[in-house]
This record gives sequence, C-alpha cells and structure tokens, in this order.
Amino acid sequence: MPITIKNNEQIEYMRIAGRITAETLNVVEACIKPGITTEELNNAAEEFIISKGAYPSFKGYSGYPASICASVNEEVIHGLPSKRKLVDGDIISIDVGVFINGYHGDAARTFAVGKIDDESQRLIDITRQSFFEGIKFAEEGYHLHDISKAIQNFVETNGFSVVRDYVGHGIGTNMHEPPQIPNYKLPGRGPKLVKGMTLAIEPMVNMKVFDVDVLDDGWTVVTRDGKRSAHYENTVLITGGKPEILTII
Ligand code: MF3
Ligand code: CO
Repeated sequence: MPITIKNNEQIEYMRIAGRITAETLNVVEACIKPGITTEELNNAAEEFIISKGAYPSFKGYSGYPASICASVNEEVIHGLPSKRKLVDGDIISIDVGVFINGYHGDAARTFAVGKIDDESQRLIDITRQSFFEGIKFAEEGYHLHDISKAIQNFVETNGFSVVRDYVGHGIGTNMHEPPQIPNYKLPGRGPKLVKGMTLAIEPMVNMKVFDVDVLDDGWTVVTRDGKRSAHYENTVLITGGKPEILTII
C-alpha cells in the first residue's frame, strides 16, 4: 500500500480528529494527581471523546480493551488502564487516538504526577524536544529518515536511548498506514516527503538501554532494565512549508 496523500477536504477531517485528540489529552492531564487510577483517566478520556460524537480509535483495535494507553514509569507504551493508583513522583505516558468522520488523530504525552525527580523531568523534556528536532525535517525536499536521524541524534546526545521495536506511522482513514517512521537511523533516506502526507511521529525514549519486553498481559511494553521511559507523539501534516501539527491546540 502506498503512502496516502490527503486532499483539502480530507485534511479538514484530519484537523477535526486531531483537535479532539489534543482536547482529550488536556482533559486527561487535568485529572492527573496522586491517588487517581489509570482506569479513571481512561474513563474521563472515553467519556469526552464520545461527548464529541467521536470514537476512541484504540478501543477494539487488535483486541485492545481500552480507550487510552496509560504507561507508568518503566512502562514504555501500551499500558493497560487498571485500578493502579498514581503516586507522587510517578511519570505517566498517555496515548490516545480519536476517530471521527472516517479519520483518525493520534497523540501521546508524558506527564509528571506531583513532584518528580530532576532526571525524570529531563527525560520528559528531551523526549518532547526530540520530536521538535525531528520535525525540522518534516518538509518537502527532505526524506522520512531525515526526521528519524534528527530524533536519534538529539536523544543520544543527551544521554538517553530511542526504542527500536516500535515506530511511528502514517495515519488517515486507518490509524496505522505506511510509512513506518523509526526514531533511529536506517540505511538510506527513506521516502521523499510530499505535501498532503499525514504522519504520527512518536519518539519513545528510555533513560538507559533501548531494549524492551512485553508483559504477560500481552500489551504492556516495559524497559528491560526497569528504568523509566517517556513518549511524545503528534499527528503532523506535511505542507508546502512548515509542518502543521494537528494534535496541538
Ligand atoms: N498510539 C499507538 C500507536 O501509535 C496505538 C496504540 S495501540 C492500541 O501505534 F492497540 F492500543 F491501539
Ligand atoms: Co501512534
């Protein structure tokens, strides 16, 4: 399947899905405090998405049972919402997808719970900043792996590592479309970037080793060394100029 190029009408639909995705993250962020459970965060997100006439993209995707992924501390991605209560000093990565009018938005952030240690804050900041380093190359004239390389360079220069086993992706009428978007350099520059592409760019950054494992629940991805991990994702539109970030409001 080739990389889909969206026309103006489709882009308008992607903007709507992206906006609700961003709003959902804001709703969840406002709920985060010591004592709340990840299931309560999931329910707040789901309720908000439904109230907008949209559907949570993740729910039912490959059998995924919830509307958000809630990954705490050494959990990298795909953490299942549960009765686990957040405690002061935790970090939590929230990933959410929204489907409306036939189009998806997808975004993730890592948040602090109460007061966190400086190194955890640096992990969150570097992860977010690596996304912005990457999208300096999200323009016509560059190639996909220019983004990947910029993310990896920035993360590693700052002493952290990028996860290899999971990658970003094209997005549109399907949550996962070509191309795959690694956060590390592969041989070659990858496909040329073209106006109308919509890409979910999502660095997953570990404090130390990049190796990960999947827990017995079949979903939760954790760092092999038990150290913390952070995630930052936006759905991005390639334009004739600077990229348009569809999941920031
Ligand atoms: N946001 C994730 C991604 O970008 C999707 C979560 S996987 C799901 O691939 F199965 F939970 F939906
Ligand atoms: Co994604």
